[in-house]
Amino acid sequence: MSADTVTSAPASAAAAAVADTGAASQAVLRLANVESAYGPIRAIRGVSLEVIRGQIATVLGSNGAGKTTILKTISGIIDPRRGSVEFNGQDITAQDPAHIVRLGLSHVPEGREVFPLLSVRDNLLMGAYTRKDRDGAARDLETVYRYFPILKERAAQNAGLLSGGQQQMLAISRAIMAAPELILLDEPSLGLSPRLTKEIFEIVVRINRERGTSILLVEQNANMALNAADFGYVLENGRIVMQDSCAVLREKDDIKEFYLGMKETGVRGERRWKKKKTWR
Ligand SMILES: Nc1ncnc2c1ncn2[C@@H]1O[C@H](COP(=O)(O)OP(=O)(O)O)[C@@H](O)[C@H]1O
Ligand SMILES: [Mg+2]
Repeated sequence: MSADTVTSAPASAAAAAVADTGAASQAVLRLANVESAYGPIRAIRGVSLEVIRGQIATVLGSNGAGKTTILKTISGIIDPRRGSVEFNGQDITAQDPAHIVRLGLSHVPEGREVFPLLSVRDNLLMGAYTRKDRDGAARDLETVYRYFPILKERAAQNAGLLSGGQQQMLAISRAIMAAPELILLDEPSLGLSPRLTKEIFEIVVRINRERGTSILLVEQNANMALNAADFGYVLENGRIVMQDSCAVLREKDDIKEFYLGMKETGVRGERRWKKKKTWR
């Protein structure tokens, strides 16, 4: 309980910083007309989106829609062919990924990518390598142990011995250890049981609420993402075809049919994938 009061401090500090600089923009991240390709394959086209400071935004899309490509373009792993990426009003398009991390943007990649031969604790400390405030890093180590007690229990064990769900917890926690302003989360639910997915999403929301960290979450699991996020974008074949507050998106028939599976169930379940997509 007291933890809440402690961890809410950075959020108000961030808000104060915004007021101090008189930042005109509410957006911590802004993509404008971004196009990224792999050789001849244009994976994303004309993608424009924003993450409002202190909010969770989500990009929903099925396999191959271009979700991972968006995140890799933001964090500098892929250089876009067109368009721009702004972080805190600063142009970070095609900059060095290590530089982008130091600006306060952490990427939790698809498939977690923890260091399997390092201990859980050393994985977490790797996340804090850019930080100068050792006290803050020590505090955040306790914070992530509170979010995910299993990581404390397994602190001395090699990360490669963790289950998939625990590795996802570790990957998210390693991002927190960098004390970022914005976290990019690539399909945290992938391959996890519904129970573990729910647990992880609850913590994602707590990280946002308690620490004031902005989050861009890309997911195929629209059900979980729409409940966790404030604003959502629907991505199809590399283009954004719909955007709205998650409260509105949750009520859209198209979303229910294609992503939430509420309309067609049972033996007719596969029909929703065949229906011609007519986005409204
Ligand atoms: N390394 C790559 N080389 C060639 N094509 C790729 C590569 N990575 C992704 N793609 C293609 O780009 C498109 C978008 O992929 P991706 O961003 O991984 O989608 P998502 O994360 O939504 O599943 C897909 O058509 C995929 O086949
Ligand atoms: Mg992906």
